[in-house]
Amino acid sequence: MRDWISYWDSDHPIYVNARHFDVHYANIASDIVRLVPSKAARVLDYGCGEALHADKIAAHCATLYLCEAAPTVRTRLQERFGKIANIAVVTPEEVAAMEPESLDLIVANSLLQYLKRNELLALLKVWRRLLAPGGALVLADIIDPKQSALADALSLLNFARKNGFLTAAFIGLVKTTLSDYRKLRAQLGLTTYAEAEMLKLLADAGYDAARLRPNLGHNQGRMAFRAQKNAALAG
Ligand SMILES: C[S@@+](CC[C@H](N)C(=O)[O-])C[C@H]1O[C@@H](n2cnc3c(N)ncnc32)[C@H](O)[C@@H]1O
Repeated sequence: MRDWISYWDSDHPIYVNARHFDVHYANIASDIVRLVPSKAARVLDYGCGEALHADKIAAHCATLYLCEAAPTVRTRLQERFGKIANIAVVTPEEVAAMEPESLDLIVANSLLQYLKRNELLALLKVWRRLLAPGGALVLADIIDPKQSALADALSLLNFARKNGFLTAAFIGLVKTTLSDYRKLRAQLGLTTYAEAEMLKLLADAGYDAARLRPNLGHNQGRMAFRAQKNAALAG
């Protein structure tokens, strides 16, 4: 496998069973709904993955853009949500071509670890241009370099216990350990950020930002940030 996008485009074992797949995305959708500022909001879920419950977010906003780089995932999103009038499935290139100030909320959950730092810096520019005045960027599920793979595994097991898929989660963790994900993680790495580093990076990119608690999803060992563009940079 060449890169992370090819991994997400493949038939991967990240979700240990159908129940995990469903409750993961139900959780993320309800967390995103809490961030939506109004029914008139234009919302972008960047690196949305399968977004199984995106219809629940769309019910709380004017337009929901689902941006996904993996073509096979995009096809499934289109099949799932093509009939919902206020959901648009878009490519990263289509997002980059959107009108300035056309979004009120941008969420990127569990994305930054799969981007190189320079890719994130480029996206921060794009997102800043797209945010309408008063709009917010939420970056979530960011891995602190101090966070261990063991802590991630324990958080998944706890989530699984609460949601009735503990045995499958144990088996899934073993499978993931033996899978391409582990190999790719060793080969490509995951990008991590300490809290102070992320705040500086956002400030340097022209955002006022603060830590957002709780994180989106079940893993509270990971971090979320809420950022708004400031007047410090032109454009
Ligand atoms: C860990 S999944 C997260 C999915 C979802 N946001 C969630 O919270 O479950 C990361 C997703 O980001 C997508 N992705 C990776 N790099 C991307 C990029 N540069 N632009 C858009 N999507 C990207 C992957 O294809 C994958 O579906």
